[in-house]
Amino acid sequence: MNQANHSRRDFEKKFAFVTGAGSGIGRSIAIEFAERGGVPLVTDRDASLVDEVVDTIRSRGGQASGMRLDVRDAQCLRDAIEACAELGGIDIVFNVAGTNIPRNVETMDEEEWQTVMETNLTSIFRSCKHAIPHMRRRGGGAIVNVASIAGVMAENRCGAYSASKGAVVLLTKNMAMDFARDNIRVNAVAPGSTRTPRTEQYWQRSPTGKSEAAELCPMKRSAEPTEIARPALFLASEDASYITGAILVVDGGLTAGFRIPTFDRM
Ligand SMILES: NC(=O)c1ccc[n+]([C@@H]2O[C@H](COP(=O)([O-])OP(=O)(O)OC[C@H]3O[C@@H](n4cnc5c(N)ncnc54)[C@H](O)[C@@H]3O)[C@@H](O)[C@H]2O)c1
Repeated sequence: MNQANHSRRDFEKKFAFVTGAGSGIGRSIAIEFAERGGVPLVTDRDASLVDEVVDTIRSRGGQASGMRLDVRDAQCLRDAIEACAELGGIDIVFNVAGTNIPRNVETMDEEEWQTVMETNLTSIFRSCKHAIPHMRRRGGGAIVNVASIAGVMAENRCGAYSASKGAVVLLTKNMAMDFARDNIRVNAVAPGSTRTPRTEQYWQRSPTGKSEAAELCPMKRSAEPTEIARPALFLASEDASYITGAILVVDGGLTAGFRIPTFDRM
């Protein structure tokens, strides 16, 4: 299921800017993009994670550059986009960096609200704002945002997270409309529960968390990072050449519908 398909080289000579690429879903996107011939600029706020991902890609024969970047820093984000353009160009932007502070509106403070909004939403506004002129000059490109099913349905105790991801969903559709004429496609993946270092931290704090997350889902398990990365890469690829403004829900059926236990017993 999760074996890499090394024979596919559909991103040959393509350059991508990837945020939050040090861990989990972003790491998986950067590594598989490189395995398929692309050259990612691996960025993350944690420099040691950036080095690990770049080393992994190079040790497998791929090409990558790395840069420490906290996406909440507007000037650094702009500089990183310019650096990516100078390294080879920007064909694809994967906006992956994200954070969650699980609190309700009453218990969340202003600073926490700003942290979630700036990391999950404002960073996407900024990276797209600065990347789009470069993509237009190259004749087009693709942007893939990582939203969440929490942006499609509200998630309890996650007011800021749900609001930020819901806004990512609509910003994705807005940009799809505004930049289609520039041959820039803009789409999002909306993952459900995915086994990444972030979720594993939650599961360590709450030992029943993993089985509870699995139980909610018709497929009775969380996704592996590659199972989110590959749909994201599909949206970035030529296979999705007529897809823009799409929100690809990748959640093992979690948001497909609701179950009536009585009917199961009939
Ligand atoms: N894991 C899930 O169940 C799940 C579900 C839905 C959506 N998502 C989304 O997927 C994306 C990736 O999540 P993940 O589970 O792989 O998390 P993760 O914590 O494993 O990886 C996120 C990476 O982003 C980096 N990061 C965080 N804040 C940053 C900042 N301000 N600037 C730069 N880098 C920053 C972290 O250092 C980390 O390397 C997020 O946008 C998240 O909201 C995850």
